[in-house]
Amino acid sequence: MKNVSWLRSLDFQRASMLVGFWKSVKNRPKLALSQLFCIIFIPVSFLAFAGWIDLRKYDPVIAVRKQLSPTPDCVTWNHTGVCPKIHPASSPTKPRSGSSCPDYFRWIHEDLRHWRKTGITERMVSGARRTAHFRLTILGGKMYVEKFREAFQSRALFTLWGFGQLMRRYGGKLPDLELMFDCNDRPVVKAEQYAAEGAAPPPLFKYCADNSTFDIVFPDWTFWGWAEVNIKPWSKFLKETKEGMEKSKWEDRVPYAYWKGNPKVSRQRHLLMTCNPTPQNEWNARIYALDWEQEAQRGFNQSNLAKQCTHRYKIYAEGQAWSVSEKYILACNSPTLLIQSRWHDFFTRGLVPQRHYWPVRDSQMCKSIKFAVEWGNNHTTKAKEIGEAGSHFAHEALRMDNVYDYMFHLLNEYAKLFKYKPKIPPDATELCTEALACHAHGKWREFMEESLEKFPSDSPPCTMPPPFDLGAFARAKMEAVDEVEAWEDEYWRKKDNVH
Ligand SMILES: *[C@@H]1O[C@H](CO)[C@@H](O)[C@H](O)[C@H]1NC(C)=O
Ligand SMILES: *[C@@H]1O[C@H](CO)[C@@H](O)[C@H](O)[C@H]1NC(C)=O
Ligand SMILES: *[C@@H]1O[C@H](CO)[C@@H](O)[C@H](O)[C@H]1NC(C)=O
Repeated sequence: MKNVSWLRSLDFQRASMLVGFWKSVKNRPKLALSQLFCIIFIPVSFLAFAGWIDLRKYDPVIAVRKQLSPTPDCVTWNHTGVCPKIHPASSPTKPRSGSSCPDYFRWIHEDLRHWRKTGITERMVSGARRTAHFRLTILGGKMYVEKFREAFQSRALFTLWGFGQLMRRYGGKLPDLELMFDCNDRPVVKAEQYAAEGAAPPPLFKYCADNSTFDIVFPDWTFWGWAEVNIKPWSKFLKETKEGMEKSKWEDRVPYAYWKGNPKVSRQRHLLMTCNPTPQNEWNARIYALDWEQEAQRGFNQSNLAKQCTHRYKIYAEGQAWSVSEKYILACNSPTLLIQSRWHDFFTRGLVPQRHYWPVRDSQMCKSIKFAVEWGNNHTTKAKEIGEAGSHFAHEALRMDNVYDYMFHLLNEYAKLFKYKPKIPPDATELCTEALACHAHGKWREFMEESLEKFPSDSPPCTMPPPFDLGAFARAKMEAVDEVEAWEDEYWRKKDNVH
């Protein structure tokens, strides 16, 4: 009761103030307005000047941005089963600062080169269906998916989630197209087959390729999370790693090369296990085998990637094909010792040896690792530079803004090649955040909520770099590797002569 009467008296005070103010407006309008001006404008401009009020928040462009639901709208979805209307991205006003895309975007031109002359026909796209897990159609700013078969674990689900988030971000700006996506590890569109026939290959989207295949590489599902093994969405990982890294200086880390993972998936990893120290040999490596099943039973308490920045050097070894681990390894501020690899994903071709990583031979890898670590511990300034450049690549060139822009540009360039207007396939369903998230539970749902794009982009995507001389780039890379191998040979020649 007491509270209520207190409230009433407050109301009364306010009311009498208003009445008083209204009277003065009637009697002396100019004076009253200038009083009002002083009461409101001066404090607000002072607060804005001091940075306590961010007036940009009240910009109408941003007010439009706020209209995206901050969580999947499952109440409506469960009721209607209809995808909510996506608000078209507000017309971009402010180009993003430093708006040129990272260099690795140039490979988009390279990957689409096979269709430059012929364009992409309906027949070519159907030709890619043979191994595809799903077909994605974009039409009038909406996405539709037709599933052909189940993919391993939640690869297809989280890849589709990534497409859905791209749509939330760039909405109506996406072009009409359709594409076939194959979620398996290894590329399948063999170059020699199409070179011999002189025919354009089927355009097939994959996570990786090598120098003898024409598959179009696309960001893998782990950028939105790998729920089965508790690998968090990439942006969350980056944030946690940054916090962890600030706590441990490079000089204070264990002065050896570290690797942890599943050794059973490739010959390279199998051989890597032999680089652990023995009574006869110290290869400067500390290699740990990880059994993901056991790890799952333990609640993943040994496999937190954000807590693996403990050693001065980190080894990258590919698996059955490319390995999703590369980006986590690069992100640590410790030089990556990259064992010569065959497969590439969408960003790895932008990495330069001696600048972003240290090249390690596939043959005699233990000797190569021993030399690399000793060299780095002798040349700490240079070693730290490589560690920081690799890490900068992961945290900046590969931040989610750029991953989405890569997807955007790749799809845009791909769509430019289209010779036909795609239709909604009869068996397709509309793809949206709700259609995927409202059935997901536990870690799956948690990772989706964490990687949900909350706003349409308020700036246009970065500017695509023009095609460039790939030959010169490849030669420069090869020379940087050759140089390291020559140092290494020299080191071992001296050492072996002594014994
Ligand atoms: C991880 O969990 C298992 C089982 O719950 C436990 O035995 C082990 O000691 C834990 N390890 C660490 C480093 O916490
Ligand atoms: C393709 O890669 C293999 C090994 O990964 C290498 O031996 C071969 O020379 C490469 N071919 C070209 C044309 O670059
Ligand atoms: C590192 O320095 C030591 C001592 O100067 C030298 O013996 C060794 O050969 C150097 N190793 C490398 C790889 O540079």
